[in-house]
Amino acid sequence: MTTIEVIVPVLSDGHYINGTRYGDEGVKAFAGGRHGSIGSAFLDSGIAEGLQSLVKGKRVLDVGCGVGDWCCLAAQYGAKSVDGFDIQPEMVELAKQATSHLDMVHIQVGDAGDMPYDDDSFDVAISLFVTCNLSPEVYAKHFEELQRVLVPGGKAVLLLPTNWSHSKLYTRFDADPAIVEDEIAEILETVPINPTTAQITEAFKNANDILITCFAMDQNGKLFHVKNVSQLTNGQPIWRKTEVMLFPNFFYSDQSDIVHLLTTSFHIDHIDNYCTEERRLTYNNKRPAIPLNREYVAHPPALVYYVSKS
Ligand SMILES: C[S@@+](CC[C@H](N)C(=O)[O-])C[C@H]1O[C@@H](n2cnc3c(N)ncnc32)[C@H](O)[C@@H]1O
Repeated sequence: MTTIEVIVPVLSDGHYINGTRYGDEGVKAFAGGRHGSIGSAFLDSGIAEGLQSLVKGKRVLDVGCGVGDWCCLAAQYGAKSVDGFDIQPEMVELAKQATSHLDMVHIQVGDAGDMPYDDDSFDVAISLFVTCNLSPEVYAKHFEELQRVLVPGGKAVLLLPTNWSHSKLYTRFDADPAIVEDEIAEILETVPINPTTAQITEAFKNANDILITCFAMDQNGKLFHVKNVSQLTNGQPIWRKTEVMLFPNFFYSDQSDIVHLLTTSFHIDHIDNYCTEERRLTYNNKRPAIPLNREYVAHPPALVYYVSKS
């Protein structure tokens, strides 16, 4: 197994020893994005299609369930039972509210590095947009725990960020990336040394042309715009600015994700690049205010891995 090196202290107002915390405002922003038109367009964009055939009649686990949208979807697709857990109690509260009408859904607080379930409890596990939220203490254990709680032959679906999501500047469709780069450089000059997540959020709150980009802190505590993953070390705290909110995240290269899947005896059945031209157009039709650009299609920010426990 690869060693995860950490070059900056893990704790900040967004990076905790066992994962990320978004804070009250962040959880509200996340819930707004997930339940709103951006989130629902995203839920429809191909990941949902892949899930539909997998979950029918199955015992499903949703790791890092957030506000419970995938739990609802799995229930709607005929799962026999759905268990969801998340480290942030505020998320769990919202997920419980969102699923309160569904008897087969159970939500609780839990840690991806120490899942609150017996061995061989689930037929299918999903872990979507989660690994980049796990601290180095939890990251490798998440893959081991997924393996443990699945039955032999059980399936897992993981959405894992690509290295492009840490090095590309995705802008809104009609924005000039060079102008957005200049805007970012100007804003960075205003960010204090050793900034908090709240301070970075505030600094970039009007940078609406950014769809996704990534920031990290250098050894002197200065925030910089990541242009190449060689500027980052596995396990390093980062911040991902999206149109919905600024996410405190941790960097893991896409190669590290694959190594951890394979060393925990998963077989990779299929990898879905859900950012096809057709999906971009479908997605854009649902959210004309901030359409996705071609960069997003050419360099998808995440891939969906369909794997089986060997
Ligand atoms: C980007 S959100 C994704 C939520 C959900 N999977 C979705 O797609 O809507 C990442 C989630 O991971 C959760 N998380 C972070 N560290 C965790 C940990 N150690 N165990 C469980 N969940 C964790 C966060 O609280 C957050 O809700």
